Amino acid sequence: MTKGKVDALLGIVFGDEGKGKVVDVFTPRYDLVARFAGGPNAGHTIIFEGKKFVLRSIPSGIFDEGKLNIIGNGCVIAPDLFMQEAKELETAGYDLRSRLHISKRAHLILPTHRVLDRAYEAAKGKAKVGTTGKGIGPTYSEKASRTSLRVGDILDNFEDKYLALKARHEKMLADLGYTDYDISDEEKVWIEGIKYMQTFPLTDTEIEINRYLEEGKNVLAEGAQGTLLDIDHGTYPFVSSSSTVCGGVCTGLGVAPNRIGEVFGIFKAYSTRVGAGPFPVELFDETGDKIREIGHEYGAVTGRNRRCGWVDLVALKYAIMINGVTQLIMMKGDVLDTFPTIRVCTAYEKDGVTTTDMPYDTEGWNAVYKDLPGWQTDLTSITREEDFPKAFADYIKYLEEELKTPITIVSVGPDRAQTIFRK
Ligand code: GDP
Ligand code: IMO
Ligand code: MG
Repeated sequence: MTKGKVDALLGIVFGDEGKGKVVDVFTPRYDLVARFAGGPNAGHTIIFEGKKFVLRSIPSGIFDEGKLNIIGNGCVIAPDLFMQEAKELETAGYDLRSRLHISKRAHLILPTHRVLDRAYEAAKGKAKVGTTGKGIGPTYSEKASRTSLRVGDILDNFEDKYLALKARHEKMLADLGYTDYDISDEEKVWIEGIKYMQTFPLTDTEIEINRYLEEGKNVLAEGAQGTLLDIDHGTYPFVSSSSTVCGGVCTGLGVAPNRIGEVFGIFKAYSTRVGAGPFPVELFDETGDKIREIGHEYGAVTGRNRRCGWVDLVALKYAIMINGVTQLIMMKGDVLDTFPTIRVCTAYEKDGVTTTDMPYDTEGWNAVYKDLPGWQTDLTSITREEDFPKAFADYIKYLEEELKTPITIVSVGPDRAQTIFRK
């Protein structure tokens, strides 16, 4: 029997590329959908039949009955937020326990991890990362320093382990002089969340996934964040704390590299970034405001303004290289419908030096642009590639040539239905 493959769908810029929408569209083709990195810092929006859901920890394949969804070992999970998210889905009529398994090896975010997140940010002064405040950095730090608790820990004598780790955090916070916090209400909901999580299948997901592959079934790995927020390959230190790239699929799910099939790299027809850090294409003028306004570029998790700019070929080429992207998916073309000129960043320039390679230190670089004509046509009701206005077709062709990778899917609106598969 032919063995199954793991296809990866990865954000290849700064996150929020539209991963949730595409995973939802792709799910019918797969047997299993798995998150391999991140936690409730993610916010993946799915819109269909007039309904909207924003998923944080639960994979976006959850709406398709009969498909298994997995929160993999590379993820971190906050029991209280998980409970809130899962109950919303249960209220909407989705039976989760039959289709959602959580890795015993995923790590737990404690309420005190979130306090530590705030304390570390406060201590950074002007150099704040602008985190989502969900305790991501402190939890992954403790995973690496081997002091963290895992989902499997909630199956046995959990209270003692929890109290010991909480006490350790309280000492760390006192050492930082960060004492103005009160987690008592939060903690009650968190403990309720632990009990709620105990009613879910907590499993050895790496074994389940590999069993599926042995049986010839196919898996979709749903990325969180984006390549430029990756702990190794992003704009460090303005990054998240997990492996968001294709390599993270292997470590975050326990699958071997030779099991990876297609690597879908998803990006927007322009760029956004939420949080601090270098962003050479950032627009500070009314064009940036217009993109934000039309694209509703406000964080799905924190509601913060997303910083906006033109598409960045330096970043995209780098991400395609790091991830081995085989197909590109371009989202939100419709947001640029009214712009007479579309700009593309082709290189970075600093102190007379020009580069098309992603520099080690992305601070202080200016974008070099090429201008292309806008299509000035409403794309949102187009359903076939043949009906694309010429300038939009030319934009796609230009990007494909520059990026040496085919753009096989184009999205022209937030709904499931507004997705065009190219031939
Ligand atoms: P994710 O984190 O990568 O899943 O992306 P988010 O959900 O955080 O952000 C993407 C936003 O764009 C969501 O509000 C989506 O509903 C919306 N969206 C996705 N695709 C399109 C599109 O093609 N056009 C428009 N206008 N909106 C889109
Ligand atoms: P999805 O999966 C966009 C950003 C934060 C901050 C940095 C570190 O929806 O694309 P963290 O809380 O992870 O320590 O924050 O990373 N960030 C995201 N930006 N989309 C995301 O997820 C993000 N997850 C984290 O804004 O700059
Ligand atoms: Mg998002």
